[in-house]
Amino acid sequence: MLSEFGHDLQQALAARPRSISPKYFYDAEGSRLFDRICELPEYYPTRTELAILQRSVGEMAALAGRGAEIVEFGAGSLRKVRLLLQAFDAPARYLPIDISGEHLRDAAAILRGEFARLDVQPVVADYTQSFALPEHTGSGKRIGFFPGSTIGNFTPDEALAFLHGAARVLRGGALVLGADLVKDPQVLHAAYNDAQGVTAAFNLNLLARANRELGTNFQLAQFAHYAFYNAPLQRIEMHLLSRAKQAVVLAGERFTLEEGETLHTENSYKFTIDGLRALAQRAGFRPGPVWTDPERLFSVHWLHAPPGGSA
Ligand SMILES: C[S@@+](CC[C@H](N)C(=O)[O-])C[C@H]1O[C@@H](n2cnc3c(N)ncnc32)[C@H](O)[C@@H]1O
Repeated sequence: MLSEFGHDLQQALAARPRSISPKYFYDAEGSRLFDRICELPEYYPTRTELAILQRSVGEMAALAGRGAEIVEFGAGSLRKVRLLLQAFDAPARYLPIDISGEHLRDAAAILRGEFARLDVQPVVADYTQSFALPEHTGSGKRIGFFPGSTIGNFTPDEALAFLHGAARVLRGGALVLGADLVKDPQVLHAAYNDAQGVTAAFNLNLLARANRELGTNFQLAQFAHYAFYNAPLQRIEMHLLSRAKQAVVLAGERFTLEEGETLHTENSYKFTIDGLRALAQRAGFRPGPVWTDPERLFSVHWLHAPPGGSA
């Protein structure tokens, strides 16, 4: 039987236009490549968000109060949350959620070594589907953390659905949300077309992963990384473009790609501060403080989750 990845890739190859969820970038190799992207000179979001968090984390700690439990969505290498864990007053527990299981478990083991008194419970799950979180027990607030502008990988409807779910999980607490801002298209273009080709390798890893896990025969050299800013939709689109007419076989089924056809692999929506706050409000959050950098490249939002009942 085909895995979920195999099933979704089969559907994508059969459809026109072809597109697949960016969640499939993230096997262990994809997570390693994403960490390298974060270090690239062109990729401003990581260093900018880290600088914003460094400046604002004292205010966040005051808002969170004592004994907060931190739930991180798409936690990756757990780099940014260290700032929160150091600044917050006696955080009770940390629940990092990620789909990339091996990478998450390794990162959690390193974190445990650094924060010996912290209860760290990694949750390997797909946050776009229903999943179980350990019950919220302590008396502190539950604070969600969703950095990296990963919210931009959702369509607006998906983002709203995700925020509705987060509001339920975080009831009575808050969400700290990092969102990339609309800006000069040249800056955006450079960030997703780096000179070293790491973003290209990250994009192509989707096909390499399919060859590893699904036994497909994608010839990686026959595909080009293609990323551009779609200004009317305020999003970066990432595609894999077929350099020639070629065929690929998945689970015994043959698919033909014509020269120039693409597989759409990721959207990265860009936001205005007001647009993001309005979206959060529609999901039931009450927008609180917003922090940004002097160039207004990136934003970090404190969103109060609706009060009441159990998660
Ligand atoms: C853009 S990276 C951001 C990583 C990190 N939070 C940061 O800010 O640098 C997205 C992260 O979300 C994870 N992810 C993507 N889709 C996911 C899903 N549907 N469910 C759970 N985790 C997901 C990826 O494995 C990856 O670690």
